[in-house]
Amino acid sequence: MKSLKHNEEISVASTVESIHYHDVIIIGGGLTGLRAAFQVSNSGLSGALISKVHPLRSHSVAAQGGMNASLGNVPGDDGASDDWKMHAYDTVKGSDYLADQDAVEKMCREATATVYELEHMGTVWSRLENGKIAQRPFGGAGFPRTCYAADRTGHNALHTLYEQVLNKNFPIYEEFFVTSLVKDKGRCIGCTAMEIMTGKIHGFISKAVLMATGGFGRVFNRSTNALINTGDGLSLALNAGVPLKDMEFVQFHPTTLYGTNILMSEGARGEGGILINSQGERFMEKYAPNSVDLAPRDVVARSIEQEIREGRAFDGGYVHLDLTHLGSDRIMERLPGIRQIAMDFAGVDPIEEPIPIQPGQHYSMGGIDADINGVTKLPGLYAAGECACISVHGANRLGGNSLLETVVFGRLVADKIIDDINQTPEPDTQAVQLAINQVESKIGEIIGRKKDANIFNVKDEMTETMFKKFGIFREGQTMEKGLKEILKMENKFSNLTINNKHLAVNQTLVQFLEIEGMLKIAEVVARCAIKREESRGSHTRTDHPDRDDENYLKHTLIELEDKNLNISYKPVTIGMFEPKERVY
Ligand code: FUM
Repeated sequence: MKSLKHNEEISVASTVESIHYHDVIIIGGGLTGLRAAFQVSNSGLSGALISKVHPLRSHSVAAQGGMNASLGNVPGDDGASDDWKMHAYDTVKGSDYLADQDAVEKMCREATATVYELEHMGTVWSRLENGKIAQRPFGGAGFPRTCYAADRTGHNALHTLYEQVLNKNFPIYEEFFVTSLVKDKGRCIGCTAMEIMTGKIHGFISKAVLMATGGFGRVFNRSTNALINTGDGLSLALNAGVPLKDMEFVQFHPTTLYGTNILMSEGARGEGGILINSQGERFMEKYAPNSVDLAPRDVVARSIEQEIREGRAFDGGYVHLDLTHLGSDRIMERLPGIRQIAMDFAGVDPIEEPIPIQPGQHYSMGGIDADINGVTKLPGLYAAGECACISVHGANRLGGNSLLETVVFGRLVADKIIDDINQTPEPDTQAVQLAINQVESKIGEIIGRKKDANIFNVKDEMTETMFKKFGIFREGQTMEKGLKEILKMENKFSNLTINNKHLAVNQTLVQFLEIEGMLKIAEVVARCAIKREESRGSHTRTDHPDRDDENYLKHTLIELEDKNLNISYKPVTIGMFEPKERVY
């Protein structure tokens, strides 16, 4: 047994190339991972970041509309000024009272400082005439609270944090696909990862691992998510015996471009855009008389789907997002990105004509069960950002709260890790070496299999089943059928192989491993959705149309025990806001 010193790198036998030691390993190079890396670097600990893509290709880069913070730069309708409590109230109400209110409070209190911190680091926020940071209205928010950089907010913030981390010379293992978490004596002591360029399996030993890998949107078709959002972090955690939480709650964004499902930001409605059906009606007036087009996402997505189902949509299943009345100056200044996307991908210039849109999968409210500090059930493993469920979004996330969560909890969870690390025992190399051997033999076994069927067909079947049977409207028997289909796919997939048998730059192998994890995540979502016999937030059951606080005001936990997925529940933390009926 050899304990390694910081940053010491040793070569090990045969095909295994190297083992790396860092105090803290951060998995994921999006906003959460980069903000955490910045914090770890400032603490003087040795850390490293592992990402399956170049960090600037992380899905955070695609976030459009903005980041919520109660700066109060734009007054509400009655002239009142915003504050963190109003932000917390809107968030809890938006969550259909499933969010943990202590976590919500923490996030909303930190929001203002977070926006200013990004500003000081270099994020170019859009401004008001008076020079203050601009804020726009977003769905379910009582005040114009969403700070933005036109409609490229994630792009701006990600570049800011990447630059900060580069300045620190923080080690980044780019294009490394993490293959397993390593456990020893009941602790997480690192991970294994495949260097995609060479196919070599590396071992990473650390005192703490932070999972910051983003969501699992690509388990569904019609998703706004990047192709990389395959839920890898969640399946790694599940396989390591860590529970996932509230996995039935999947967000469908109301406005995605018809045909490609690229996001058409809620910022478009924040700027005054309206939704119109094929009869020329502004239909949101009937579903949400007060908030109209700016009701929360679950309400608007359901309303559009209802219009489609009841025959008031255009052929093919879409409605219009109309911005033409905003005028070209406003569109060019505030929404240049979505104008470009609408022109490039739908041949529609929003200055001249309405944009065809339909709802699409957008966000995963559920994730790795983590407490308010990002601590998971497995000592040494922490989680933050979309892959985690610290539970600030409950059953439905408000637009603009996701970017906020990434940066707030990227920092706070890193602080927790820094605090904990002194009491953490030195890990040793043996378990990591063993884990490397296991991954190598697993890959050898996959490559050696004989059954050569197209793995991408299985993926397509899975994403279609998930959208059709676990989409905006759900029903018990249909979901049971969907679960059976998913189980069949898992079974079929476990015998398949891939044509490309080389290890270097084998994207098919990477995707094979991704799909294997996605099928398990699909099963998890299905099982949790079937068990929750009520409608709450994004989880709408036509056979159980009402919210049922008596039986379901609780978090769902699901974990792998002896290869079985077991479901249990735990209480929601209620704080200032007692559950009430949600009216918009
Ligand atoms: O619509 C949007 O711009 C998305 C924002 C978000 O998901 O928070």
